[in-house]
Amino acid sequence: MIKVLFVCLGNICRSPLAEAIFNHKIHNKGLDSFFKSDSAGTSDFHIGELPDDRTIRCAKHYGMSIKHRGRQVNRVDFREFDYIIAMDNQNLQNLDKLKIRYGFPDKTIYLMRDFVEDEKGQPVPDPYYGGEEEFHKIYDILDRAIEDFLQELKERHQLYA
Ligand code: 4NP
Repeated sequence: MIKVLFVCLGNICRSPLAEAIFNHKIHNKGLDSFFKSDSAGTSDFHIGELPDDRTIRCAKHYGMSIKHRGRQVNRVDFREFDYIIAMDNQNLQNLDKLKIRYGFPDKTIYLMRDFVEDEKGQPVPDPYYGGEEEFHKIYDILDRAIEDFLQELKERHQLYA
């Protein structure tokens, strides 16, 4: 089982949407049985909350439902998850500090858009203070990045549906 954790700041916008898109794609590709996914936030702002209404509406628009409650990244995540993927550089930096504090200095933390050849180093922008259209923008970004991430996983782990 390959375990994937998507991480943003609040765990109510980007990372739960990333998790929903990932689950949708692995289901459509017949790859469900290879993976376990989850999402978390680096902050404690929205622990226990449902995703933002705009996140839920956006997911629904593209045919996905989201069942998730906000949670904060913890020590166990660094041991449990094979791929921890940050949505932007601020969260990447926080995770790089946390991995040292929690005793996993060699853990690789990935940046979401680094999986897209022409988008390396770029953030999945925080849509929280934006309008509804920001959510559709991040959906498109995540859709591309997760497609390329899955392609890389298929090659790296020799997965065949
Ligand atoms: P997320 O978006 O990190 O994509 O879940 C945010 C959600 C909440 C806040 C910031 C970003 N906040 O400041 O409460």
